Amino acid sequence: MVLNQYVLSPELYGNTVPMQICIPAGEQFKNAEYLKEILDGLLKNRCSRSDTVTAFGGGVICDMTAFAAAVYMRGMHVQLVPTTLLSMVDASAGGKSGIDYRGYKNLIGAFKPAETIFICTELLATLDEEQYWSGFAEVIKHALLSDDDFLDQLMLNKARIVSRDHEFLAETVKRSLQVKITFIEQDPCETKGVRQLLNLGHTFAHAYETLSDFTVPHGTAVAWGIAKSLQYGTKLGITDPEYGRTIIRFLNELGYPVSSTIRNRKKFMELMLLDKKKKGNTLQLIVQKNRGETMMIPVHDHEQVSIVISEKPQTL
Ligand SMILES: NC(=O)c1ccc[n+]([C@@H]2O[C@H](COP(=O)([O-])OP(=O)(O)OC[C@H]3O[C@@H](n4cnc5c(N)ncnc54)[C@H](O)[C@@H]3O)[C@@H](O)[C@H]2O)c1
Repeated sequence: MVLNQYVLSPELYGNTVPMQICIPAGEQFKNAEYLKEILDGLLKNRCSRSDTVTAFGGGVICDMTAFAAAVYMRGMHVQLVPTTLLSMVDASAGGKSGIDYRGYKNLIGAFKPAETIFICTELLATLDEEQYWSGFAEVIKHALLSDDDFLDQLMLNKARIVSRDHEFLAETVKRSLQVKITFIEQDPCETKGVRQLLNLGHTFAHAYETLSDFTVPHGTAVAWGIAKSLQYGTKLGITDPEYGRTIIRFLNELGYPVSSTIRNRKKFMELMLLDKKKKGNTLQLIVQKNRGETMMIPVHDHEQVSIVISEKPQTL
């Protein structure tokens, strides 16, 4: 990982002028048609397995480029220059690559870790508010999963978060990425039940964003999902109630819609049951006892989950 390198530096490309393949931005283009554009571009330029493809863009571009690199000639080199906060702290690390297929997110993919990730936090200055806060929810999630003072630093520096203080953001992105890497190193292929803990809030979030027809940005849904998993854990007597209240209040202060509730509980539960972490027919949820104390638990009784999604947190 290289922090704050400029993206067109000789370090990235040597002294050659790189060829470029441009793909439109947005989730609607993360599909087989645009994967083909990348593969055609690589072929047209006679790229070989020893060449390197560099993704410059958000999570969509990083995921698609890495997948193209995984399948082109059974694997060429890939490096990433993530340009959104979400892709810097989440999508760039861990090697998950892929495209959406027939309406299913990331249905086709491969593990293809990038050889180098170049992070330029200066790029965050141009992100719109929605994208910035969407990415910041994943930063908060990493701080909750970490048992050091990362969370305290966020809670003490709300003004610097809001103003996108560059120095603070550079340090925050670095710490956030380090948390993700710690989990991935323990369980690279998600087979040991460790990497799944990075999914804190995500089972609730995926159903929430799907129910909204993807009008709610991913990270915003994740912040809501984290609040729900804290409410759920508290109901079961797992989550320390004071911890749960503190985090939900913090998310609320940053403007995340934690008091939003679900009317169509039946549909929501159906969507939750599509989660990839399900074992057989049993839903698995990630809950926390406290900061840095996270676990995956089976959900045998759906009624408690159904109550939580329709209840505002008592804190607010
Ligand atoms: N591989 C993984 O582990 C992983 C993890 C999390 C998310 N993802 C994937 O990431 C994708 C979401 O990524 P995203 O949120 O970055 O969305 P995105 O790639 O669609 O980018 C969002 C928008 O931000 C714009 N943008 C990018 N950089 C910018 C900049 N510096 N300034 C201004 N605008 C900029 C883009 O043009 C686009 O309109 C999803 O497809 C998701 O599945 C992958």
